[in-house]
Amino acid sequence: MKDPRTIHAQLGDEAFHKLTAAFYAGVSNDRLLRPLYPEEDLEGARRRLALFLIQYFGGPMTYAQERGHPRLRMRHMAFGIGAAQRDAWLGHMRAALDTLELAPDTREAMDRYFEDAASFLVNQQEGQPERLPLRGVSTPPTR
Ligand code: HEM
Repeated sequence: MKDPRTIHAQLGDEAFHKLTAAFYAGVSNDRLLRPLYPEEDLEGARRRLALFLIQYFGGPMTYAQERGHPRLRMRHMAFGIGAAQRDAWLGHMRAALDTLELAPDTREAMDRYFEDAASFLVNQQEGQPERLPLRGVSTPPTR
């Protein structure tokens, strides 16, 4: 499997800005995902994702300088992400990847990373209430 940290050197910054622009163009019209994004203007979110991906795929660490450690699972806890949101997110990312002309091994490595990362960020179980009662905290019987 191709080492993801070699990908930025091949593609350059511009590809990641193009990728995230295409991705957020899709998100901006998505009725499931758009309400999750707190800011009216998605440019800030686009730029944060671009800088993060540039860093992840082996480029400059500007994301870390601006935002610190990514802690992506923690940062996504504020947003309800179930299987439907993950699949919608991945659908926009795959469509955005289609706009880049990627070598097959690069595409495969990027697909694999996004699938794993998106599944890791799922924080809501299907069919469960949004907030479960805290484990171990029981309410006394009413009788
Ligand atoms: C699974 C579906 C996902 C949903 C619904 C989702 C949603 C969001 C939302 C609502 C934000 C806040 C936007 C903002 O920064 O203003 C955000 C931030 C972010 N997301 Fe996601 N996301 C998902 C998956 C991913 C994945 C797979 C990655 C990485 C590969 C990622 C990387 C980021 C980054 C880097 C930020 C900015 C973090 C920061 O510095 O504050 N997200 N995401």
